[in-house]
Amino acid sequence: MVAIPIQTQIKHLILKEYLAKWRSIIINGSKFHALAAQNRGVEFMCRLVYVDGFSSDGRAFDDRGNSSAAEKLGMEHSGSPILGIRGLEDAKAQAARAGFDVQTMAILVEESRTKCKRLIENLRGSGFQERLIFDPAELSFRDSSIAIVHDDLNNVYRSIAQLLNSQYTKSFVFLDPYGPKDIPVELVSSFVGLPGTDVVINWPYLGLERKTGFLWSGPLTPGADAQLRNIDLLFGNGDWREICYSAILGTTEISSDKEAQLTELYTSTLQGVDPQVVVKRIPLEFESRDRTIYYLFITTRDPNGALELNQILDEAKLHEFGLKWADQQERYIERRASAGQQFLFELPPATPPTSEPRQVNIERVAADVYSAWHGKSASLKEVYGSLVNTRLYKSDINSALRLLLQQGLVDKVGKKVADTMQFKALDS
Ligand SMILES: C[S@@+](CC[C@H](N)C(=O)[O-])C[C@H]1O[C@@H](n2cnc3c(N)ncnc32)[C@H](O)[C@@H]1O
Repeated sequence: MVAIPIQTQIKHLILKEYLAKWRSIIINGSKFHALAAQNRGVEFMCRLVYVDGFSSDGRAFDDRGNSSAAEKLGMEHSGSPILGIRGLEDAKAQAARAGFDVQTMAILVEESRTKCKRLIENLRGSGFQERLIFDPAELSFRDSSIAIVHDDLNNVYRSIAQLLNSQYTKSFVFLDPYGPKDIPVELVSSFVGLPGTDVVINWPYLGLERKTGFLWSGPLTPGADAQLRNIDLLFGNGDWREICYSAILGTTEISSDKEAQLTELYTSTLQGVDPQVVVKRIPLEFESRDRTIYYLFITTRDPNGALELNQILDEAKLHEFGLKWADQQERYIERRASAGQQFLFELPPATPPTSEPRQVNIERVAADVYSAWHGKSASLKEVYGSLVNTRLYKSDINSALRLLLQQGLVDKVGKKVADTMQFKALDS
């Protein structure tokens, strides 16, 4: 049996993949300015900060402390804080290869004393001893440091957001709570609203959905009332209640409608923080059932990052299919073995899950791009920016631009995001 729950593996996969794109986009985007500043003898400053609001102990084992199955699968079993720190180290290395320096800092928050102690042991075991700072009285930036904050995030998020709010700082905030109580919209918005900040939220859908049941379970106990108020705080108001009442009264036909409407409401809550924010989301499912346990919500203002996310999230979904299938096979074999049955030539009956091959009509994308930009000039970043709310990949848009070039409808295809292209006017 796979030791690490599949939803955790996928969560960590997305975190790792997106951290890699995030730092690449920043380093590639800074290179020109960094080298120009060097040539002028002026100081160039770029700070990258990883914040883990709910760190846990830095490892991803199952309840029995077993990681062997994950190792067999070649899976990473570090927890999110270590993945974040490695992401920052990769950023430093990438910048050094490009000939400049970036400064980094990790801020790891954990309220449980036991987990905090284990986190420190794990970080020491991973060779980070020299870089640790414990419970700083005042959070200030220190290059290469790893600040361990043993506290409730609700007590410290304002001072963290204040530290991130600097023109030199790009930050990546990971919020991975146990339940709705720990991520009131006020806390989440203080990070989503920061211009240089990308936020990944592991949104506890199943926990939330179960708690909505209190709405019609008769007179509310004080405990149940508090749980419902926590959901009000998560959304910032009580609009979610209307969706749940409609579902129970039959005006919303099936429960997946309720799920779709609640996630849509949360998406617009995040977008409401700042219209510049692009919000992407992906459901993560239980291993043994096709039922959503969490959604990962990801916010960014970078069109490049938003389009990269389309691909990362699609690939993560395929990976989830594969892991679920492998898990079902193992369960089947275990059940047969415990019933004393032998496998000679017989294979488990399940067929691998398949997904529809992705089909993108590049001619259609090219026509849409041309119809939006004809007669105008636009940078590659602006063209990407006009398509962030689609499911397209960057490679699809680049193919569409190459097609327009072949058709003589654009003068060139930008290579860097700042490159400007001139789109031919309709009647010329
Ligand atoms: C789901 S686990 C985090 C797992 C970790 N992010 C990972 O992927 O490896 C949630 C952690 O948040 C901690 N926690 C819960 N509420 C908290 C709060 N209000 N402030 C800080 N930590 C909290 C819990 O003790 C637990 O270790």
